[in-house]
Amino acid sequence: MQHSKILILDFGSQVTQLIARRVREAHVFCEVHPCDVSSDWVREYAKDGSLKGVILSGSHASVYEVDDRAPDAVFELGVPVLGICYGMQTMATQLGGKVEAGHTREFGYAEVRAHGHTELLKGIEDFATPEGHGMLKVWMSHGDKVTQLPEGFKVMASTSACPIAGMADEARKFYAVQFHPEVTHTVQGQALLNRFVLDICQARPDWIMGDYIEEAVAKIREQVGDEEVILGLSGGVDSSVAAALIHRAIGDQLTCVFVDHGLLRLNEGDMVMDMFAGKLHAKVIRVDASDLFLGKLAGVSDPEAKRKIIGGLFVDVFKEQAAKLKAGDGGHKGATFLAQGTIYPDVIESGGAKSKKAVTIKSHHNVGGLPEQLGLKLLEPLRDLFKDEVRELGVALGLPREMVYRHPFPGPGLGVRILGEVKKEYADLLRRADAIFIEELRNFTGDNGKTWYDLTSQAFTVFLPVKSVGVMGDGRTYDYVVALRAVQTSDFMTADWAELPYALLKKVSGRIINEVRGINRVTYDVSSKPPATIEWE
Ligand code: XMP
Repeated sequence: MQHSKILILDFGSQVTQLIARRVREAHVFCEVHPCDVSSDWVREYAKDGSLKGVILSGSHASVYEVDDRAPDAVFELGVPVLGICYGMQTMATQLGGKVEAGHTREFGYAEVRAHGHTELLKGIEDFATPEGHGMLKVWMSHGDKVTQLPEGFKVMASTSACPIAGMADEARKFYAVQFHPEVTHTVQGQALLNRFVLDICQARPDWIMGDYIEEAVAKIREQVGDEEVILGLSGGVDSSVAAALIHRAIGDQLTCVFVDHGLLRLNEGDMVMDMFAGKLHAKVIRVDASDLFLGKLAGVSDPEAKRKIIGGLFVDVFKEQAAKLKAGDGGHKGATFLAQGTIYPDVIESGGAKSKKAVTIKSHHNVGGLPEQLGLKLLEPLRDLFKDEVRELGVALGLPREMVYRHPFPGPGLGVRILGEVKKEYADLLRRADAIFIEELRNFTGDNGKTWYDLTSQAFTVFLPVKSVGVMGDGRTYDYVVALRAVQTSDFMTADWAELPYALLKKVSGRIINEVRGINRVTYDVSSKPPATIEWE
């Protein structure tokens, strides 16, 4: 089946991915491509008739400073176009209007008056003024503004600082807004984007994870044929869902390799084995490499050095297993594919717009380049999906909700949650303390009846290799300290520390100190990111 699709051209805004996520939430397939694709590329992309509309993203730049423009073909295809922020300004410039530098920057919350009736905003408003004007509560972020409409356009929205905050040429179905409908601060943002993709573009809402399984399974079978596949299973969401999906498609032609580096959470290894080998009957090789990892980490306390050791060893151990599987044995002809749980945000970021520069703050676990080194072909069945969709797919495939909605866990595991040198004794204490914290987060409920585990984005315990004095019974103790960390964030780039209820903190600290002999003090980390990072190392 051919899906309807929406093309999102990325001019470099921080929030372009959010546009795509909102379109997907309307159950319409869409892709993000850099704004500098050629007109020929666009025409080729639209050739099969599945392209129903184009969205031009915002940018941090000004139309004066940069010459990023939408390829002309976008305005010649006969499909609806929606410009957002910079996307509106480039649309105005390219179609004969005028953009000028504003005297005041509008940044943040604004109330926008929606003028007259356009297909896009008809019936969409947050409140009405006493004069009866429909108003929208929106999020703005711009300096420049459109000061002259291109021919054929009318004003669709305005604020006092920005008289042309929205414009429309309804004959050609070109619409543009100066504000950002993709961010949640714009209250009617999803309604506006739904209106654009479903009513104006007439895209079919046929992007549904339950139905996608069949399509994905067919694609995997076609790509793999009767060959064999290796997958590195970490217990994280992406590799777990990829494994379940590939297993559904090709059963025993898949072998999962699960490297246990000894820095996993309490019982995690057994849980992964129980799920995949036990319940799904998938072939899983568990490699217990904890002695190797802990041995190489002895005496090393620098965080980056620890990360490099763990990442490097992980690749070595995995490669060794992969080489054996590639060579084949008795009944097996040998694997030819390496599967990876790459998801769409990774794809967008690596192929992304030229303007993006990544700053390395911590060297993250990266297994890029592995398929080439191993001489294996790559299988990436989650490449088209956002994280929310991967989770939905996981549930649809029958994985437990608890596994699929788990907080992220870093590749180096507890290695970056034990400050300084990593020792087995520390890891064992930390695992038990952390399990208590997570258990209580799942026991306590907050707003909307959600558990505090679901109300936080990431929560964990950190081991501090310092000792403090305490009393227990009649005796004095001199034991280790742990810190609890819980944050709320939507993108992990910035994060607020979570305001956990005192009753929860009290229960957790009481239990840890009583149940984990060797820890006599529990602290709570009240630092936000930035300036702190989420992990302590
Ligand atoms: P920071 O500490 O940089 O963390 O604020 C942001 C997110 O990234 C995760 N993280 C890692 N993930 N390998 C990973 O796979 C790593 O080395 C690593 N370091 C941090 C962290 O858990 C958080 O979700």
